[in-house]
Amino acid sequence: MIKVNDKHLIKGVDYKKYEKTVKEIHEMIHEKSGPGNDFLGWLNYPTMYDRVEFEAIKKYAKYVRDNFEVLVVCGIGGSYLGARAAIEALRGLHSQDKLEIIFLGQTFSSDYTYEVLDYIKDKKFAVNVISKSGTTTETSIAFRLLRSLLEKKLGVEGARKAIFATTDKERGALKTLATNEGYPTFVLPGDIGGRYSVFTAVGLFPIACAGLNIDQLMLGALQAQKDTANPSLFDNEAYKYAVIRFDQKRQQKSVELFVTYEPKLVQLGEWFKQLYGESEGKDGKGLFPTSATFSTDLHSLGQFIQDGSKCLFETIVHFEKANHDVEIPSDKLDLDGLNYLAGKNLNYVNEQAFKGTLEAHEKSGQVPNVVLEVEKLDEYTLGYMFYFFMKACAMSAYLLKVNPFNQPGVEIYKKNMFHLLGKKGY
Ligand code: PA5
Repeated sequence: MIKVNDKHLIKGVDYKKYEKTVKEIHEMIHEKSGPGNDFLGWLNYPTMYDRVEFEAIKKYAKYVRDNFEVLVVCGIGGSYLGARAAIEALRGLHSQDKLEIIFLGQTFSSDYTYEVLDYIKDKKFAVNVISKSGTTTETSIAFRLLRSLLEKKLGVEGARKAIFATTDKERGALKTLATNEGYPTFVLPGDIGGRYSVFTAVGLFPIACAGLNIDQLMLGALQAQKDTANPSLFDNEAYKYAVIRFDQKRQQKSVELFVTYEPKLVQLGEWFKQLYGESEGKDGKGLFPTSATFSTDLHSLGQFIQDGSKCLFETIVHFEKANHDVEIPSDKLDLDGLNYLAGKNLNYVNEQAFKGTLEAHEKSGQVPNVVLEVEKLDEYTLGYMFYFFMKACAMSAYLLKVNPFNQPGVEIYKKNMFHLLGKKGY
């Protein structure tokens, strides 16, 4: 499903050198014996997930689709990025679906929050509040505002029928509130961290509400689980990709630029950045993950990539087929000189842009490129991709000898902020 094309790396990887280490780390992951081993619930999740909850997700998603105009997904970081990435990737950026999906709880911006509340106030909206801890400040503030708006509109009873919670099975403020209020509640299992949670209700409920096929998403994930369970580096594309990243770091690259040629995959880039940034960026280690959309960003960042400091390599997700195509029309006057493309499809042009850029960056820019070849973009392949990147990330972080599943660094700004806000104990 994903083929790693390593022919554009400039300096090839000596895979043999990594074979033994990869096998050892593979065993560590599968035997759950490495650092952070209590957060490996995602590993076999595509085979092990709770079928009863899965059916409940579909049932409530139908209820939301049948009864509301808008779903507000309220969460931050791992508690929203996967769902957003999937919904935008699969519905596109101008969806005409009957249910609009809006994201809140991922910012303190008063302007953004005001604008969302103002936009939904006269619409029939439901809320899916997602927080494992139940105490994340951005999400909690936004949820307070949403709940109060719903209660004003519908009364306390009415609001209860429009709120869905996704949180820890037993613990946390949101769990207590959801139990007290009787909100339908989905579970984020204790052994799965936020950024590895897209296949749990955290991702699945909003994705199903968006009218997308979560059965196919899980089937794609299952295939990736099977394909990436092979301990041999030579037969495991996720491990190959992890080793390439590690090798690039060794070659003094400090930045990985995640590239697609699809604007609707910008949020997939955001999901990727969180996954790799939070999993690897610790103990002074890790590649800085960033993302770009070509050809758009070739007109901005393109200059730096081609000619600037040689700090980065590129990871390109390339689809063999587009889902839709557009034919370029002929024009009598041909003032723009485009008639040489008349009758050709736009995806053909995008494809030539990809090939031309690959060569320019590799050959004259001396920027290494790894291309991840994917047949097409749909629920199945996206499920496959999510799992592929998570498995590669675990391998990649362990190659760096860091714990892929914690994020101690994110607490420091919170402490300072709480102190400034006058929170008790800070
Ligand atoms: O990956 C992570 O663990 C984080 O990004 C969390 O998902 C994020 O901080 C939100 O946390 P919570 O779900 O507890 O509100």
